[in-house]
Amino acid sequence: MTTPYPITVVTIFPEMIRQAVGWSITGRAIAAGLLEVRTIQVRDFATDRHRTVDDVPYGGGPGMVMKPEPLAAAIRTAREAQPGGRVVLLSASGTTFCQEKARRYAADPAGVILVCGHYEGVDERIAEHYVDEEVSIGDYVLSGGEPAALVVLDAVARLVPGVLGNEGSLAEESHEHGLLEHPQYTRPPDFEGHRVPEVLLSGNHQEVARWRREAALQKTRRMRPDIASRVIEVVVDRPRRPSSTPLPLGRPRPSPDRGEDP
Ligand code: ADE
Repeated sequence: MTTPYPITVVTIFPEMIRQAVGWSITGRAIAAGLLEVRTIQVRDFATDRHRTVDDVPYGGGPGMVMKPEPLAAAIRTAREAQPGGRVVLLSASGTTFCQEKARRYAADPAGVILVCGHYEGVDERIAEHYVDEEVSIGDYVLSGGEPAALVVLDAVARLVPGVLGNEGSLAEESHEHGLLEHPQYTRPPDFEGHRVPEVLLSGNHQEVARWRREAALQKTRRMRPDIASRVIEVVVDRPRRPSSTPLPLGRPRPSPDRGEDP
């Protein structure tokens, strides 16, 4: 029996996390003992009668800021229960979460501790001194870190060995090769006049593989020109590649905006 991959979520809405992880892949992973999700209620670390976790911002302005004391105490407790766990603060001001980060987190058996902010934000001293990383799931503002923590949790959990069952399907996915995934089809071959590309019905595995590579590249160019140009840079920077070899669909170059070291 392997030790489950540990994830602790530090939050003022633990129920939101507990309910969401009970379903689908994460629910099955927990039931199979491959994943363990714990929650820590920040309010339990407030010291006043009202269990206050927020306060007005210094310098004025709208909204409230999460106070440092209860959050720091909650993080400390999480670290003690999960030694070596990487503490990740979810915040709209963090570096962008991506598949590479998910891979890095999943590869560390010490797991992650996800800290959810609320209100107008979290006292900056928490971000600076009490967490290892500040991560955003995209350039938009959520009302709290919980939906972001669930996104990170899901992306990481499915990369934990054994969770998907069919690890082969991982290698085919969007972002695993630095490109989006090729389009997928299932029966019927003709749906309301829209036909499945003929090559996929041919049974010719080599032709299917070639079509998928090309379709993945085209889809990436159309949907995500930013990713496509990084992959093409990799190709252009390898002048000694014989012209007959297929396009290397390897990972794109490290990109500082994805939180990677150049
Ligand atoms: N909290 C508020 N907005 C967020 C975002 N975009 N990503 C992560 N946490 C957040």
